[in-house]
Amino acid sequence: MDGNELKIKGPQRMQGELLVQGSKNAALPILAATLLGDGIFILHHCPRISDVEHMLELLTDAGCQTYWEGHMLIVDTRNFHNHCVFGYGAGKMRSTVTLLGSILGRMRQVEIPYPGGCTIGKRPIDLHLKGLEQLGAVFVHQEHTLKGSTEKLHGANVYLDFPSVGATENVMLAAVLAEGTTTIHGVAMEPEISALASFLREMGAKIKGDGTPVIVIEGVEKLRAAEYIIPSDRIVAGTYLFGTLMTRGEVRLLHVPVAHLGGIPRMLEKMGAEVKMEKDWICVKMERQCRPIPYIVTAPFPGFPTDLQSVLMAALVTASGMSFIEEKIFEARFQTAQELRKMGAVITCEESFALLEGNAKLCGAQVEAKELRGGAALIMAALAAEGDTCIRGMEYVQRGYEDINGDLKKLGIVL
Ligand code: EPZ
Repeated sequence: MDGNELKIKGPQRMQGELLVQGSKNAALPILAATLLGDGIFILHHCPRISDVEHMLELLTDAGCQTYWEGHMLIVDTRNFHNHCVFGYGAGKMRSTVTLLGSILGRMRQVEIPYPGGCTIGKRPIDLHLKGLEQLGAVFVHQEHTLKGSTEKLHGANVYLDFPSVGATENVMLAAVLAEGTTTIHGVAMEPEISALASFLREMGAKIKGDGTPVIVIEGVEKLRAAEYIIPSDRIVAGTYLFGTLMTRGEVRLLHVPVAHLGGIPRMLEKMGAEVKMEKDWICVKMERQCRPIPYIVTAPFPGFPTDLQSVLMAALVTASGMSFIEEKIFEARFQTAQELRKMGAVITCEESFALLEGNAKLCGAQVEAKELRGGAALIMAALAAEGDTCIRGMEYVQRGYEDINGDLKKLGIVL
């Protein structure tokens, strides 16, 4: 890979064994949670990706110190003193917004750059603010800055209109040090919510109900530093599983909590793969053309994850018939379709629906990643395509995939 592009000569088969990296979407809220406790935190299996590096810049701006030892990340929050978060990474990253709950919980005031949308959607934060206001926070919206403050956060009955992952995390982070009990109804049930709750319990928080629609938190006076193992990234795992189907390969993924994959193993079997799995590994073998999926809709966990929609699209355009995808989480997550068309895919998009003709013989082409998961989908398509593909915009992919080149080489791919 030179600069921000990756060149792949296809077709190639993915085969081999891989230990899957730590989860971006678990690590980011957990890093925000470290600001709630005073001391030295040790996080194992932490992914060294640009989104984590940006979050570490923000923690450093807030007064913390951070050190890497391989994939072990040490965060020292004993000098945390700054509630204004305007570091280089702040404006670049959505997950800055997850700092609202933890900094408010600890400092009773917070200032962040107003989080913008991104290429997959407007990404409003109304549910975050409404939940935090119910705990006693007051927000002032300025042109580019969001300021929050509170006399003291207090427990409340919070009802989320939609099981937003980020809003659930923010209310959890604000409630653990609030006075009294908070019951959050209609929460997200993604595995990353349970990872955050487990981490907060390690810090001494009193939380129950994570993984169910209602979370109950009893506020405590103080939280301590903790040591924790970040779970593996279920979206990275899913990316390589669908890539194995597209390349008719045979891959075993290690250190993957299979429960976090929801209905994906069953879907892989429906698409024609042989699937073997235990609690923390999954092996997939594909010796035929993918079968189509008549209809699939993205939904909150345990439904099919929106983060794998583009990768599934890349797999289904080569399937032996028509498939239909409905994207119900984000309003602009079909951008990869136009890039896959350059490789020979036949896809018709209409609002939140995509109709995939199937039976595409993908050919190498010059394509552009427009966002993180779409970029990963193009890489999987390039492996299945006949000829040379150049994927530009790899900086998007590096936000969430720690070393996709290294991973692919371990899976027998020649780059
Ligand atoms: C998290 O984003 C993930 N990011 C996303 O992964 C993932 O796609 C998403 O959850 C859904 O699973 C991280 O965890 C860092 P949401 P988040 O709030 O929290 C609307 C990736 O590729 N909404 O559950 O921002 C929102 O617009 C990223 O790793 C409101 O309307 O997702 C969207 O349509 C992409 N108001 C829907 O809810 C709000 O206040 C789901 O958003 C908040 C959200």
